[in-house]
Amino acid sequence: MMDDRLKDKTCIITGSGGSIGRAACLRFAAEGANVVGCDIAPEGAEETLRLVEDAGGSMISIHPADLTDKAQCERVVAAAVDRFGSLDVLFNNGAMAYFAWIEDMTDEMWSKTINEELNLVFLMTRTAWPELVKSKGNIVNTASLSAWAGIELLPGLAHTAAKGGVLAMTRQLAMEGRKHGIRANSVSPGTIETNQTRFILEDPEWCRIQLGRAMINRMGQPEEVAAAVAFLASDDASYITGTDIAVDGGVRAW
Ligand SMILES: NC(=O)c1ccc[n+]([C@@H]2O[C@H](COP(=O)([O-])OP(=O)(O)OC[C@H]3O[C@@H](n4cnc5c(N)ncnc54)[C@H](O)[C@@H]3O)[C@@H](O)[C@H]2O)c1
Repeated sequence: MMDDRLKDKTCIITGSGGSIGRAACLRFAAEGANVVGCDIAPEGAEETLRLVEDAGGSMISIHPADLTDKAQCERVVAAAVDRFGSLDVLFNNGAMAYFAWIEDMTDEMWSKTINEELNLVFLMTRTAWPELVKSKGNIVNTASLSAWAGIELLPGLAHTAAKGGVLAMTRQLAMEGRKHGIRANSVSPGTIETNQTRFILEDPEWCRIQLGRAMINRMGQPEEVAAAVAFLASDDASYITGTDIAVDGGVRAW
């Protein structure tokens, strides 16, 4: 039986149609939150909404919403406040990266990754900020193991730059938020089992590099990231700000 740590807290979860976003919507709703989902891809967002409603949760969903567009960010925040009266938590989870080794990294792939992984976090956060000031709310950002270390087989130059930016920006947000009672933290997932990462299980070289480095020798589940995010978003984390929780099975410590 889950407790009600997020009871009546209005929480925006971006990328609600994706793997970790969906797990977070279900977890937050189960802990009593009013969930506001949003995603650029309508099908996944629709499915998450259905799953949360079937589980008896409270949720609205704004989709399609491209959060690299300021007007769409404003639409999402306005919908949260219109429906639920305030905004307490912003979970910046949605992102899209483009992968190539430096020799093949085009200008377009570089700038699209920065735009779709980093700029959207800034835009959503700046838009939500006045409401978070009112509620003394908090922010959880999704950084990545890639913000901390290179991954041998992953052509993630732009991705590391964007996620490194998210990680550093979170510290600054915590610093700027302190006088308003706003906390800001991040999670850094390692290899989480999703549709995009499942191929690793069939590839011995990927398995060796990715899973061989984890003390807990398996992929993480989206629910295990969602659990860390729910903790950070709740009052259980009331003395925690400006930091990052690795959800990577111990990779960073080894
Ligand atoms: N899966 C992993 O192993 C892993 C590891 C480290 C970090 N992460 C991070 O976790 C987060 C979620 O990843 P996931 O594995 O659930 O991926 P996912 O692709 O399943 O979900 C991401 C969601 O974000 C949405 N999105 C992308 N760009 C958007 C935009 N401009 N506006 C609105 N929505 C947008 C997508 O449509 C998608 O539904 C991402 O920030 C990702 O970088 C994942």
